[in-house]
Amino acid sequence: MRKKYDYLVIGSGAAGLSYALKVAENGKVALVSKTTLEVTNTSKAQGGIAAVTDIEKDNYEKHIIDTHIAGAGICDPDTVRLVITKAPEQIKQLLEWGTDFDKKADGQFDLHKEGGHSEFRILHHLDNTGEEIQRALISQIKNHPNIDVYENHFAIDIITQHHLGRSNEPWMRDIKCYGAYVLNEKTHEIITFLSKVTMMATGGVGNVYQVTTNPTISTGDGIAMVFRAKGIIKGMEFIQFHPTSLYNPQERPNFLITEAMRGYGAILKLKDGSTFMEKYDERGCLAPRDIVARAIDNEMKISGDDFVYLDVTHKNPEETKHHFPMIYNKCLSIGIDITKEMIPVVPAAHYLCGGIKVDLNGRSSINNLYAAGECSCTGLHGANRLASNSLLEAIVYADVAAKDSTEVMRQTEWREDVPDWDDEGTVHNEEMILITQANKEVETIMSNYVGIVRSNLRLKRALDRLEIIYRETEDLYNASKVSMKLCELRNKINIGYLIIKMAQKRHESRGLHYTLDYKERNKKLDTYPID
Ligand code: FAD
Ligand code: SIN
Repeated sequence: MRKKYDYLVIGSGAAGLSYALKVAENGKVALVSKTTLEVTNTSKAQGGIAAVTDIEKDNYEKHIIDTHIAGAGICDPDTVRLVITKAPEQIKQLLEWGTDFDKKADGQFDLHKEGGHSEFRILHHLDNTGEEIQRALISQIKNHPNIDVYENHFAIDIITQHHLGRSNEPWMRDIKCYGAYVLNEKTHEIITFLSKVTMMATGGVGNVYQVTTNPTISTGDGIAMVFRAKGIIKGMEFIQFHPTSLYNPQERPNFLITEAMRGYGAILKLKDGSTFMEKYDERGCLAPRDIVARAIDNEMKISGDDFVYLDVTHKNPEETKHHFPMIYNKCLSIGIDITKEMIPVVPAAHYLCGGIKVDLNGRSSINNLYAAGECSCTGLHGANRLASNSLLEAIVYADVAAKDSTEVMRQTEWREDVPDWDDEGTVHNEEMILITQANKEVETIMSNYVGIVRSNLRLKRALDRLEIIYRETEDLYNASKVSMKLCELRNKINIGYLIIKMAQKRHESRGLHYTLDYKERNKKLDTYPID
């Protein structure tokens, strides 16, 4: 089956939905989501969205400096300025689409503060900001006559000249995207979506690791697709581990205990009630996440414990319940009353700073292919993302890409000679165990060798083992009818490979990439002075 659209949007998080809404003013849009529209990282966001709105106390320069400092000196200065100065207009857009951010009695936004921010500037909706943004965007999408929604449709690969019999090489400047092959998970049919412009908005990669805050959809599909199509990928070594996810071994993904709770006054402690963050950084519990996550990791290694504690019992119980109702109820459901007991927490893979390299208009290195949100690498986050900057990046880049791609769409025709998917000679793979076992192996390798602390030896071990799983999985893929699980495994292996290779190339410790073999930051690589 073939379908033709002006725009193909892959992903239904903040980036994909807001891009779709904007470009739908100019043409027909297909919005493809691998499960239901609501299952996204966006829906899980708790803390909020960073933007300068209180102009009496805050200003763009402060937010810009905070972003560069968190990014450990290698953020792209043009991107940082673009995103931060465009924040207020995009917040206004979210409000117009029906998003509700909490306000104080005087009508001003109730702003929170999180690690690395010098001012209170986080707009939020209780402790479930992402769900509120997702709700508002979906209600707009569902009413839009120009947007066709395809839930339970899994994008397998983007279509390029490679599918017309030509090999794409990384140095080629004219690789072009003509759409994507998409699996209808209910009928098992593979649909050829032809599009004039394609937007990749597939989110993060957390499920490459054993412990993650990301929902199961985050398997790095978009990045893997672009990598296979020989597009440029960047910054994959910078994986952000959130310091405080709820320790509850029965559960995947790990439930997040928002950083806003430390902004509110919660304190990290060991089992005996002693504090430790002051040993690692003068900003204590509100130091940037890489520092806090490494400190917790180190304390867990010293004590042999599986977690540390976050203590909020000294705060007013009613206020705590009022500010963090979702966290209060979640912890209560597993027998922890956070107003009386400390919360067991552990770092978890949370966010990818790198991804598909894009320019200031959201263009990838492949013609007619844009990327936005967590799967993209804009340069905003450098070596470490400042809390609550990612929802902001997603909506700002959706906006710049929407503006830029309108003309591209108008100047492009569909490529009619693209062949349909050919799976002749393949069979249904009945052995799910091959996939589940390989998945577990990838996650263990990545967590044990390519986690918060790395070394040359660990990275080499990881690569050697991953290569074996890669070969076995490619054989299975070539012999099988495609399924979402098999494709996700293949994508996770590609992502693991990219993280390891880029980590091996970085001969320094910087931001989220910390290696025992090169403990210092190479200041010659700085794009911004942070000392
Ligand atoms: P997502 O929202 O993850 O959406 C990805 C979409 O792509 C999904 O619809 C998925 O189904 C689809 N998709 C993926 N692969 C395929 C495929 N092969 N075919 C079809 N569809 C596909 N950031 C902040 O700024 N503030 C916060 O407070 C905050 N809190 C967070 C809390 C948690 C627990 C987590 C996990 C993240 C948090 N983040 C926060 C990060 C932020 O939520 C994400 O970076 C952001 O939402 C990413 O948006 P996105 O649109 O790029 O991707
Ligand atoms: C959090 O609420 O701690 C997460 C914020 C973020 O990831 O930006």
